[in-house]
Parts: sequence; structure tokens; C-alpha cells
Amino acid sequence: MGKTIAIANQKGGVGKTTTAVNLAASLAMTEHKTLLIDVDPQANATAYMGFDPDGMTGPTLYEALEGQVDLRDTVLATDIPTLKLVPSHINLIGLEVELLERKGRESALRKVIEPLRQEYEFIILDCAPSLGLLTINALTAADTVIVPVQPEYFALEGLGKLLGTIKLVQNTVNANLGIEGFLFTIYDSRLKSHNQVIDEVRQQFEGKVFKTIISRHALFAEAPSYRKPAILHAPDTDAAGCYMNLAVELVNNNQDQN
Ligand SMILES: Nc1ncnc2c1ncn2[C@@H]1O[C@H](COP(=O)(O)OP(=O)(O)OP(=O)(O)O)[C@@H](O)[C@H]1O
Ligand SMILES: [Mg+2]
Repeated sequence: MGKTIAIANQKGGVGKTTTAVNLAASLAMTEHKTLLIDVDPQANATAYMGFDPDGMTGPTLYEALEGQVDLRDTVLATDIPTLKLVPSHINLIGLEVELLERKGRESALRKVIEPLRQEYEFIILDCAPSLGLLTINALTAADTVIVPVQPEYFALEGLGKLLGTIKLVQNTVNANLGIEGFLFTIYDSRLKSHNQVIDEVRQQFEGKVFKTIISRHALFAEAPSYRKPAILHAPDTDAAGCYMNLAVELVNNNQDQN
């Protein structure tokens, strides 16, 4: 119950938020109760879901991590009844500094999520493009990580650092953290270099790479303007199908394990 998956890669703009939002929506549309938590002060997932991060009147993840409110009190309903959102706010940046002073600073997120885990089948954490304390909190709270990778040459360079951080978290605060899979995103089949990088990563991380590949689609590039997950904006397109396929693959992989 309540499988918690962090979507993480410290490299910016690789499709973390696009994946978090559309995977969460796909899981919810296939009748899995899903909670999307925006763990990024940029609050992009909050905006992609149609909420204005600057005009937020209710409490956000910040207030929950501060201990001012229960995480449950921050949960927002979305267009899909089985999908809920915990919004973020820019003031989460300040929390990273405040947490440094706290005992158990890596486990703050895990603690506030714990009471809600039984209520959801999947909890998806959208991480910031950094390996700072908020991302460490997400990795500490998570059962597994999905690593979106744009198949470009330099994509591989940062992966070592991310894997090092995952190992550090495994060795300290979350021994059970696993890698759910590397996910290729923003893929362009016409580019030879993309195909070469995919082959290389598949060889290096055998068995840990999702079969589903997310292609480059205008639908996703324009998504922020829809104010809802792209797959809801145009559900019958090939683009939307990518994330539906990912949801099916994820659910199947987890059934195999149980
Ligand atoms: N499959 C795709 N096809 C086309 N554009 C995409 C695709 N996935 C993401 N994008 C676009 O690429 C940009 C970055 O995507 P996204 O915000 O999901 O990345 P991110 O890793 O969350 O970024 P950040 O590191 O800033 O959090 C956005 O403009 C998004 O619309
Ligand atoms: Mg993002």
C-alpha cells in the first residue's frame, strides 16, 4: 500500500515534472488512488496541475513540514477524483535552511507522509533539480526512484552523482530505497545520438530501464499553458499514450514483485 516513488535527477529540464504529473494522472485514470506531492520550491507540478503557486491561500507542503498543519490539510482535489495534490510554494527554499538545524532533518517528509500512506496506492514525489536537503528528504521518504534521462551525451555525466546520493541515502537513512527505473524522456527517434545513448544506458543499467520511452511531443512542450496534465488535455494522442504505457509498465512490474 502507498508505494512512494520519487522522480529525481539533479539535471534541470529533463522531464521530471512532466513525468510526475502525467504518470500520476495516468495511474489515477487507471483507478489507482494517487497522491502527487510537489517537493520543488519552483512549484511547477502545482502549476501544471492548474493551481497558481503565487496565489495559494491554503497551506502547502511548507506549512506541513514546518509542523504548522497536518499534511492531510494541504491536500487539494483535482479534475480526476482519484488524484490529489499537495502543492508547493517558493518559501520551501527557506525550509531547506531551517531543516539544517533540525534533528532528523532527512526524515521530515517521511514523517509527515507516513499517516497518509495507507490511503493511497501510489504517492509520487516531484523533486527539484538539485541534490539538496529537499531531494534527500524525498529519497528518504521514497520506496523507489524513477530517474528521467534525456538521451543526450552529457546526460550520463550527472548520473554517477545521483547514484552516489542514492547509495548514501541507502547506507544511512533508507536502506530499502530501490531504483524503480531509468526513464528516457524527450526522445527524438530521428537523432542517431539519442539512439546511441539509449543503447549505452541499457547496457550499463541492464534490467533497470523502462521499456516505455517518452518521445518529444509538442503536447508536453506546451503543457504548462493547459493548466491540467497534458494527457487530460489530449487523452487520445500518441503522446498521452506514452505515459499511459508507463503507468501500465510500472503497475505490472510491481505486480511481478508481489
Ligand atoms: N516529452 C516531451 N516532449 C516535449 N517537451 C517536453 C517533454 N517533456 C518535457 N518537456 C518540456 O521540457 C521542459 C522541461 O520539462 P519539465 O519541467 O518536466 O522538466 P524538469 O526536469 O521537471 O525541470 P526542472 O529541472 O526545472 O524541475 C518543459 O518546458 C516541458 O514542457
Ligand atoms: Mg520540475
